[in-house]
Amino acid sequence: MTRPVIELREVSRRYDDALPALQEASLIVRPGEAVAVLGPSGSGKSTLLNLIAGLDRPDAGSITVDGVRVDRLGEAGAARYRRSKIGMVFQFFNLLDDLTVTDNVILPARLAGMARGDAARRAAQLLETLGIDRHAHAHPGRLSGGERQRVAVARALMNRPPLLLADEPTGALDTAAGQDVSRLLAELNAEGQTIVVVTHDLALARSCTNRTVRIADGRITEDLVSPAVASEAVR
Ligand SMILES: Nc1ncnc2c1ncn2[C@@H]1O[C@H](COP(=O)(O)OP(=O)(O)O)[C@@H](O)[C@H]1O
Ligand SMILES: [Mg+2]
Repeated sequence: MTRPVIELREVSRRYDDALPALQEASLIVRPGEAVAVLGPSGSGKSTLLNLIAGLDRPDAGSITVDGVRVDRLGEAGAARYRRSKIGMVFQFFNLLDDLTVTDNVILPARLAGMARGDAARRAAQLLETLGIDRHAHAHPGRLSGGERQRVAVARALMNRPPLLLADEPTGALDTAAGQDVSRLLAELNAEGQTIVVVTHDLALARSCTNRTVRIADGRITEDLVSPAVASEAVR
């Protein structure tokens, strides 16, 4: 079997004296999978994603992503890990309004040491592929929500990460823009991108993923691979 992209073993995270935000979560995600994480508000979905992204550390358990023991990284190691292994998309885009679209998109590559010209060429390609090249020199504040989320996706893909994480990427978008972003994620997955997307939106989960993981009160309660995909894996 190919090496998993994500391997979580009994991962727990508790904030202060509150109930655990995540309890003994185990999860294996293989290359090319697209996984939807579903669950009510406060159930631990963002906690799970932030732990995988190396933005937070577990109290117990191990997290391995593309061969890296994420739970053992220090601050500098975690920053390097995020730049090389993770692309992340958030509900409210997290773009820098002082920078142009292009400068937002090339930022992760510049931080990773890519020359400006090379980064700008890759950014131009990504913006064209995502249909937002005409906004390359605009500031994100001028764009619609759907366009901003495309910019965020372009930025997330800049360093060709083995793993794309998205936390409620359609949560701040109208239905049509949300469908565009779903379609985009489905296309990226069809090209082989491994994706984990947190969402409340069942339509998004169905249209762009082939596996659903449900979380309730910090525990993974269900992990279902869609029948079409399961039968393909058997063949
Ligand atoms: N930084 C934090 N400090 C304290 N409690 C937190 C923090 N982040 C999340 N929590 C708590 O952990 C639980 C899970 O939160 P979260 O993972 O954000 O849920 P979801 O993304 O499913 O809405 C909630 O009870 C939330 O209040
Ligand atoms: Mg959340």
